[in-house]
Amino acid sequence: RMKQREKKMLTGKKVLVSAGPTKEIIDPVRFLSNHSTGKMGFALAEAAHQLGAEVTLVTGPVQLETVEGIKRIDVVSAEEMNKAMLDHFAGQDIVIKTAAVADYMPKKQYQHKLKKQPGDLQLEMVRTPDILKGLGEKKTTQYLVGFAAETREIERYGREKLERKQLDAIVINDISSMETGFGSDDNAVHFISKQGANVTLPQASKQRIAEQLFTEILKEVELNDR
Ligand code: CTP
Ligand code: CA
Repeated sequence: RMKQREKKMLTGKKVLVSAGPTKEIIDPVRFLSNHSTGKMGFALAEAAHQLGAEVTLVTGPVQLETVEGIKRIDVVSAEEMNKAMLDHFAGQDIVIKTAAVADYMPKKQYQHKLKKQPGDLQLEMVRTPDILKGLGEKKTTQYLVGFAAETREIERYGREKLERKQLDAIVINDISSMETGFGSDDNAVHFISKQGANVTLPQASKQRIAEQLFTEILKEVELNDR
C-alpha cells in the first residue's frame, strides 16, 4: 500500500509514539479519562514499523492489540506516561505525541472508596505535567511532533501550541466534525511545521493518514540529516 520509494525509509531510525487516553484515579473504583481510543497513535506506530523503524509505543488504557515487533509500554496516568516518555526520549529520531493526556488529576488519591455524604462533592484537581512541553525543552536532535484537538480557530491554536511547546510539527485535528477524530476509524487533519509546511490531509482512514503524515515528516527529517 505504501509507495515503493518510501518502503523502509525509516530503517535504522528510532520512533517513539504515545497513544490513547490517560486515566486519573480518584479512588479504587473511580477515575477521570476521555474518549481517546488510541487508534491514531497505533496507526502511526504500525506505519513507522512498516517503514523499518525501531518503534516504541507508550500507551494509556486502550482496547487495541500491538503488532509484533513494536515495543509496547502500558501506562495509566499522565504522570506515568510522562515518566515512560522521558525514560525513552534519548536517542529517538522521531517522537510523536498523539496521546490525549488529562490536563488535571485529582489532588489526592483516596485509598478507600469514597462514601456519599449529604450535599455536593467538591473534588480538588491539580495540573498534570505537560509531557510534550517538557520534551520540547529537553529536545536535542529529535524531530518532535504534537497533536492538537481543536473545535475552533484551528490554525491559530495549532500554531500557538507548535511554538509554546517548541515542536517541529503539529497535527491539528478538527473535532468540530464528529465524523472524524475520537473513536472514528477515519481522521482529517492539518500538518503544520516549523520549517513552513502547511498541508491539509482530507478525510481518510487513520492508517492512510498515518502513512501520509510520515511522508510529510520524512521530507523534513531528511532535510535535517543533510
Ligand atoms: N499534551 C501533553 N501533556 C499534557 C497535555 C497535552 O503531552 N498534560 C500533549 C498532547 O499529547 C498533544 C499536545 O500536547 O500532543 C496538545 O494537546 P492539547 O490537549 O491539544 O493541548 P493543551 O496544551 O493541553 O491545551 P488545551 O487542552 O488547553 O487546548
Ligand atoms: Ca489538553
